[in-house]
Amino acid sequence: KRIAIFASGTGTNFDALHQAIATRQLPVTVALLVCDQPDAPVIQKAQAVNVPVLIVNFRDYQNKAAAEDIILTALQAHQIEAVLLAGYMRIIGPTLLNAYPHKIINIHPALLPHFPGRHGIEDAFAAGVSETGVTIHYVDAGIDTGQIIEQRTVPVLPNDTVDTLATRIHDCEHQFYPDVLQTLITKGAI
Ligand code: GRF
Repeated sequence: KRIAIFASGTGTNFDALHQAIATRQLPVTVALLVCDQPDAPVIQKAQAVNVPVLIVNFRDYQNKAAAEDIILTALQAHQIEAVLLAGYMRIIGPTLLNAYPHKIINIHPALLPHFPGRHGIEDAFAAGVSETGVTIHYVDAGIDTGQIIEQRTVPVLPNDTVDTLATRIHDCEHQFYPDVLQTLITKGAI
């Protein structure tokens, strides 16, 4: 199976997915990275492992549909069958949603439907919950609203700061995303 990863930032989930696919010998190729931020560190991470990169700077296009047309053309050229969002900080528009129904997946660092949006870790910490976690879900037109595939809980410990909690959540993500990818592949859902 040929997948694309979409990311906007650091790319630790990109690395975790790419490495797990190799070490677990999953029948998956990360055939494209799509990045909307020309200076994002994830670009170098992809280049370091010879994954082709498409940089789409949305400012260069009249609207989201025009930018997503470029992305869709690249996905088709690379014969991409599913898309994993890994810190991609944009709402996916109808162009891509219609082209990949039930084939676009996101990871969110909180237990949805609690704490959607950009600051899931900080918002959960500020709310004082004793448990938060990670959600992997299908993407729909909303912000972190699509059908949940699987969730994993992460405890908030008494001496936690936002940073120690964030580290625990990211460690969870780096195991969890490959695990879910593996399950979806095994089920034939990708
Ligand atoms: C992760 O916490 C992910 O859940 C969220 O964005 C972050 C991306 O981190 N959607 P990285 O770029 O993979 O390091």
